[in-house]
Amino acid sequence: MKVTLVLKVDAEKPDEANIQTAAQIIQNGGLVAFPTETVYGLGADALNPGAVLSLFEAKKRPLDNPPIVHVSNAMDTHKLAKKVPKKAELLMKQFWPGPLTLVFKRSSIVPKVTVAGLDTIAIRMPNHKVALALIKQSGRPIAAPSANLAGKPSPTTAEHVYEDLNGRIDAILDGGSTIIGVESTVVDLSIDPPLILRPGGTTYEALKGVLSEIKLHPFVEAEEEVPLEKIKSPGMKHKHYAPRAEVVLVEGSIPTVITKIKELSDYYKQKGEKVGILATDETLTSYTADVVKSLGSRFNLPVVAKNLFSLLRDVDGENVDVIISEGVPSEGIGLAIMNRLRKSSGYHIIKTK
Ligand code: TXA
Ligand code: MG
Repeated sequence: MKVTLVLKVDAEKPDEANIQTAAQIIQNGGLVAFPTETVYGLGADALNPGAVLSLFEAKKRPLDNPPIVHVSNAMDTHKLAKKVPKKAELLMKQFWPGPLTLVFKRSSIVPKVTVAGLDTIAIRMPNHKVALALIKQSGRPIAAPSANLAGKPSPTTAEHVYEDLNGRIDAILDGGSTIIGVESTVVDLSIDPPLILRPGGTTYEALKGVLSEIKLHPFVEAEEEVPLEKIKSPGMKHKHYAPRAEVVLVEGSIPTVITKIKELSDYYKQKGEKVGILATDETLTSYTADVVKSLGSRFNLPVVAKNLFSLLRDVDGENVDVIISEGVPSEGIGLAIMNRLRKSSGYHIIKTK
């Protein structure tokens, strides 16, 4: 067991001494969790193979699923990628710093373990002062997957990180809640046309506004397990975002969803199970169950995204046996929300008309 330091930092004006302490840990091959605008990341020096290996161990992450490498300056991409295509330049100009990760052919300076042996690398420049200060101060690109134990919902507060990783990592920079709440969008630019591998904080609509041709990998909208031969991103084959409780997702129009959720809730109650429901502001009063919480308004999906992982953890923390969640429209950030909800349910989806 390690002693995990918790270092408080102001998200707008990060305390220099604490950033310095955290940067030294990274330089010495240690592990530091830090906030980004999407979720908390668990950082290690991306060019230090031993440090990256310990990152996988701390998270219990399978070695075949590489982390994203974070930079504080878009120019650093040229050192890590073999080639930066014109289309990538356009996206970087428009969306960096921000919740967009780009996959490139990698350069030879990148250790194998950092990219899980692939010939590509995923890079992003986060839009968060604490993350940028840490990367700059450590003088290294920082490999950082989400700072949760593998398979769990991603952390949106330092408390979530502490819950999963206390004693397993060197430090946590606590900069409060993250802003977006779901992870970055991952776009593969090592192929043409570019392909969205994971929907996230940068919407499909916004990406189409810059690139006329960009495709969605079928996995993004998948409603069932994707067969292994179709898998493009290593992260696609692993269990994800799963609370301890069973999750059931109910999709459809509001009245039919309400009816179905009430029916399911009664069914589980009769089996003697403790039931949690994730509703929306518009439907909250329709339900009675052991725990009922609202994800936010269906008409304000950015708020739903911000609340999602935190509520999954909260409801799970009430020791329910099953969490029944409403779906939301898959427009804008809704595409990322639905992708996470479907995965967290292990594709236990019920469609109503
Ligand atoms: O918002 C985010 O992206 C957060 C914060 C911390 O930046 N990070 C994050 O990292 O979500 P992680 O490791 O939990 O997810 C990285 C995703 C995985 O699905 C992984 O398979 C994919 O990116 N990925 C990494 N390298 C890749 C590569 N070379 N080709 C394809 N996919 C890759
Ligand atoms: Mg993750």
